Amino acid sequence: MVVNGLTKLYQRGGNTVQALAGVSLSIPQGSQLAIMGPSGCGKTTLLHCLAGVLRPTTGSITLDGTEMTTLSEGAISELRLKHFGFVFQDGQLLPELPCQENIAMPLMLAGVARKEAIARAQQILVNLGLEGAGPYRPGQLSGGQAQRVAIGRALITNPKVVFADEPTGALDQSTGAEVMGVLTYACQSTGASLILVTHDPSVAARLPHEIHMRDGLIDQQVSR
Ligand SMILES: Nc1ncnc2c1ncn2[C@@H]1O[C@H](COP(=O)(O)OP(=O)(O)OP(=O)(O)O)[C@@H](O)[C@H]1O
Ligand SMILES: [Mg+2]
Repeated sequence: MVVNGLTKLYQRGGNTVQALAGVSLSIPQGSQLAIMGPSGCGKTTLLHCLAGVLRPTTGSITLDGTEMTTLSEGAISELRLKHFGFVFQDGQLLPELPCQENIAMPLMLAGVARKEAIARAQQILVNLGLEGAGPYRPGQLSGGQAQRVAIGRALITNPKVVFADEPTGALDQSTGAEVMGVLTYACQSTGASLILVTHDPSVAARLPHEIHMRDGLIDQQVSR
C-alpha cells in the first residue's frame, strides 16, 4: 500500500477541522505498522482512509496498483470485504450469534456456503487456541478470548491487510500482550499486512515499524 499526500478535512459546526495534513508512507505487503500519537492527531482518520471506510479530501492510496480513492462505493465495499480485515477495541462481535458464526460471517457475506464457512471458522478457532468455543456467544467468553474471536473474524477471508484500532485498549496488560501475540502471529503466518493504532508504547514496540503523528502529520518514523 502506497500513500501519497493524504489530507482529510472535516466540517463541524461551520468550522473546518484538518484531521490529516499531508500524510505519505509506504507499507510493503506483509509488513506490520503501529500508528501512535496524542489523542486527536488523526490516527483513526488515517486508518479509516487506508481501510476505504472514509474518503480522503485529497491524496492517493494505491493497493497493488489500484487507486483506491477514486473507486465507486460498490467497488470499495467489495475491496473491503475481499481484501481487508478489521479488529476494533471492543471486538464488536454480534452478541446474539455463537462465536463460530461471528467468525464465519465475512465468508458467508462473500457468498461461501454456510457449512463450508463454519468449517473454516472451526479451523480458525483451533489455530487461535479456542477449540470448543465455537458454540458459545461472545458474552460467555473473557475479554481476551472474545478479542481472539474478533481476530479470527478479521482473518477468515485471508485478507491482504488487517486494520486494528486500539485492539488491546480494553484489556489488561498481560491479556493485551497475549492478544497481540495472536494477532501478529496470525498476520505473519497468512502474509497479511497489519496496520494498528495504539496509545500503548509496549504494544507499538512489538511491531517492526512505527509512525508517530502530530496535528495530522507524521512527525517520526521508527523501524527496528
Ligand atoms: N466526523 C468528524 N467530524 C468532525 N471532526 C472530526 C470527526 N472525526 C474526527 N474529527 C476530528 O479530527 C481530528 C482527528 O481525529 P481522530 O479521530 O482521527 O483522532 P485520533 O488520533 O484517532 O484520536 P484518539 O486517540 O482520541 O482516538 C480531531 O480533531 C477530531 O476532533
Ligand atoms: Mg482514534
